[in-house]
Amino acid sequence: MRPAMREYRIAAIPGDGIGVEVIAAGLKVLDALAARERGFRLTVEHFPWSSAYYLKHGCYIPEGGLERLRRFDAIFFGAVGAPDVPDHVSLWGLRLPICQGFDQYANVRPARVLPGIRSPLANGAAIDWVIVRENSEGEYSGSGGRAHRGLPEEVATETSVFTRAGVARIHRFAFRLAQGRPRRHLTLVTKSNAQRHGMVMWDEIFYEVAKEFPDVETQRVLVDAMTTLMVLKPQTLDTVVATNLHADILSDLAAALSGSLGIAPTANLNPERKFPSMFEPIHGSAFDITGKGIANPVATFWTAAMMLEHLGEKEAAQRLMRAIETVTGRRILTPDLGGEATTAVVTGTVCGAL
Ligand code: IPM
Ligand code: MG
Repeated sequence: MRPAMREYRIAAIPGDGIGVEVIAAGLKVLDALAARERGFRLTVEHFPWSSAYYLKHGCYIPEGGLERLRRFDAIFFGAVGAPDVPDHVSLWGLRLPICQGFDQYANVRPARVLPGIRSPLANGAAIDWVIVRENSEGEYSGSGGRAHRGLPEEVATETSVFTRAGVARIHRFAFRLAQGRPRRHLTLVTKSNAQRHGMVMWDEIFYEVAKEFPDVETQRVLVDAMTTLMVLKPQTLDTVVATNLHADILSDLAAALSGSLGIAPTANLNPERKFPSMFEPIHGSAFDITGKGIANPVATFWTAAMMLEHLGEKEAAQRLMRAIETVTGRRILTPDLGGEATTAVVTGTVCGAL
């Protein structure tokens, strides 16, 4: 039996730009939800780690920071990236140390056209995908270097790293996820025609793991062809597994095809639960609209639903998704979706719908 009052410790890291606005909105909605459900309580601790913090202290995560984060049940993350810090510094300063340090190797990115939201595709209604992104190695391994800096013979290498253990675990995770969805269909995205080492191993291990899941239908698609398939035959896809970089690119396309980057959520999971997992909207810090009060909080709400699901609060997650869909269905939308509502109005309306 579950205890009468379930408690979860959430680390909130709003970060930069609109991250601050959408995490505040997300926490409001979570509060309203917890009050409505009564069965669970969230204790939230805020971490000020951001680019402003970096400019002041010289680091994004202070000494011992990861150890502190480790004790939480989940991390609710806004965005990182600021005009006055190079992007690779902010990314490798905050987000990647958490993802890689906590072995959040499975990045899950659902895409669906919510009620009231228009897809740029004529047959956009067919979009119901989950992209599984390898989140710990591949093109983001950080392996490589530069020599002869500034000289004419300067050289830079950026090495993709694929390990048997890393590839097998992400494929197995994707198969399990596909198996739990009605269509039981998994698309392997690859580029093994041109990249004949890592990508060929990626494919081989996929088919080894496939033997454990005879009830899941598979399909292998080259990443370039995948872009056309997503646009022209969205109904043929369901669950998708792709490398770190391929899935990064495809998930932006998926978000655009489902209406806006402003609605796309993501979960950085450590499936074994040895470490906390991290939940974030995909959109980033968006300094062009920061402070205007028009950031779309829907991606963060959907992200919050994924977090609740991960914590085992399935009913609460479903209630939140229904509330989000009620509000988008009434076309109470922020400007990125062609509406005029502010972040506060969308947030208040979702709280009401709960
Ligand atoms: C994403 C983002 C990041 C990534 C950026 C901010 C480095 O685009 O989460 O998709 O490429 O991983
Ligand atoms: Mg991206």
